[in-house]
Amino acid sequence: MIFRSCVYNVGKEISFMDIESLNLETLRRLRETFLGGEGRRNYWQSEEDLFAYEQTFAQRIGWKWTYVLGELERLGWTPPAGDVLDFGCGSGIASRVFLRRFGAAATGKLVLSDRSTLAMQFASRLASEEFPGLNISCTVEPPSAPAVLLISHVLTELSPQSLERLVELASAAAATVWVEPGSHEASRALIAVRERLREKRRLAAPCTHQNPCGLLVPECQRHWCHFFADTPAEISGDGNWARFARAAGIDLRALPVSYLVLDSRPAPVLPAGATRVLGRARLYKGYAMLLGCDETGVHDRRMPQKFHPEAYKLLRREQMPPLQAWTCEGEKIVSLEPIQVNR
Ligand SMILES: C[S@@+](CC[C@H](N)C(=O)[O-])C[C@H]1O[C@@H](n2cnc3c(N)ncnc32)[C@H](O)[C@@H]1O
Repeated sequence: MIFRSCVYNVGKEISFMDIESLNLETLRRLRETFLGGEGRRNYWQSEEDLFAYEQTFAQRIGWKWTYVLGELERLGWTPPAGDVLDFGCGSGIASRVFLRRFGAAATGKLVLSDRSTLAMQFASRLASEEFPGLNISCTVEPPSAPAVLLISHVLTELSPQSLERLVELASAAAATVWVEPGSHEASRALIAVRERLREKRRLAAPCTHQNPCGLLVPECQRHWCHFFADTPAEISGDGNWARFARAAGIDLRALPVSYLVLDSRPAPVLPAGATRVLGRARLYKGYAMLLGCDETGVHDRRMPQKFHPEAYKLLRREQMPPLQAWTCEGEKIVSLEPIQVNR
């Protein structure tokens, strides 16, 4: 497989991917790096690596960002004005999806930061092509108090010292949006960060409360805080993506994501019984079991189909909004309604 050209398809939610133009060996190597815990060294060897990453892994990460930013919209969340820092930017997908959603106009400057100069240059080029006129700078040493800090798929690559510095940065940023894979390991690591920051910053999402994380109790050790982003429908029938999935050992149907959003501004008032549904619902004949997280902790709840036929239908189609106001009697969900905050 030969690397032919860098034809970037920027400015679109779904990027055209031509597998013929990508080096499958590169994709396999990157995948092994990410899975094998090899991420502590600089693995970007050439622009070809970043190109292959941008067309594949990064697109999937972009869909996770689309999901997370959609959840923030439900909460009426908008970013504070000022500089946006994309830490560990890689090809810069996180900040580009963020700017697509919220517009570049309110952004003072986009600061791209990575230990790899190659990555920063690559991300800078894509961002400037997509957002002409945007003030963009690149730096290995991130500024200390950005308005918005974006962190994406970095946690498992950090040394304890680098993590320490990043947590400090998050405690100084006016708002932080932190997106990681939806694995048990990444989610648990993010929960540890949450616990360190929850008294310094408001937990805007996915948490519906500021109490200690309910997943930390011994009975919940097997669970983790994760959700499923949508893969665009076009992808499932696309031969290029199918070949990529085979080469990289990826299941295209599942896009699990963990995230944490911190904010220094006051919280919107959520209705009583505000609950975030974690993971996937389990559907049985006549009822569904849902793992709900609210201010009292994380509980398995039973939703009888008879009383909630519409919600059951949505669950079957995997379309039920995960942020709900529930009333429960014991483990039974008596009433439920999606939460939408209008500001
Ligand atoms: C898996 S990539 C994710 C890239 C991008 N954030 C995304 O979501 O697509 C991790 C990135 O973090 C960078 N990185 C890892 N450790 C870092 C550190 N200590 N300081 C700065 N960047 C780091 C790597 O060079 C790489 O670009």
